[in-house]
Amino acid sequence: MLAEALQNRSIEVDRPLDVSALRRLFPEGVQDIWLEIGFGGGEHLVWQAEHNPRVGIVGAEPYLNGVVSAMDALISRGLAGRVRFHADDVLALLRGLPPECLSRAFMLFPDPWPKKRHRERRLFSAHLLDKLAPLLRPGAEFRFASDIDDYAEAAIEAVRAHPAFDIAHVFATANRDVLPDWPVTRYEEKARREGRGATFLVLQRAG
Ligand SMILES: C[S@@+](CC[C@H](N)C(=O)[O-])C[C@H]1O[C@@H](n2cnc3c(N)ncnc32)[C@H](O)[C@@H]1O
Repeated sequence: MLAEALQNRSIEVDRPLDVSALRRLFPEGVQDIWLEIGFGGGEHLVWQAEHNPRVGIVGAEPYLNGVVSAMDALISRGLAGRVRFHADDVLALLRGLPPECLSRAFMLFPDPWPKKRHRERRLFSAHLLDKLAPLLRPGAEFRFASDIDDYAEAAIEAVRAHPAFDIAHVFATANRDVLPDWPVTRYEEKARREGRGATFLVLQRAG
């Protein structure tokens, strides 16, 4: 049952998709395609789908319970047609998407891997920026957040060293309301409960 529901709402990238095949996955009237990486339970993804009726969203999340929660919430709100899931590692998805197909991307509170010896497992990296950059249109936004200070610092450093991205905006929890179209996620709430603020980055695809 889940397999069937998921199949109907998945994006298949065994072979690279061209732009028209990607467009055909979404209803007519969808003008832009956004990507959310590691959407967890899908609260942010559902909010964005609800508030941006001309946007189609691709969600990458290997945690199946999260995919099911997001799918349920989308179906009950009549939004499921505008979202496609990749229930696996986002890097496999990025290999199958056509150039400049995305006009926004999000990676919010990725797994922190706080121990020094595990830092190379962190998903936000120069490698990820290399793979994502060609898929974003010039001027596209990439929003990132982390409640782990050294992760946010490393992210800023990686972006400064990357020729395809500029930092448009950096803010902390105290200025959280500067972007009203950035709802609080489940992990951000958890961090707040545990007394940790966060760093929010708005990156821009150069060009
Ligand atoms: C700490 S949770 C944050 C979830 C959500 N963004 C939030 O803020 O509430 C990080 C999420 O990233 C997902 N994740 C981990 N590795 C991933 C990968 N390679 N590709 C896509 N998502 C991944 C995890 O399964 C997890 O749901």
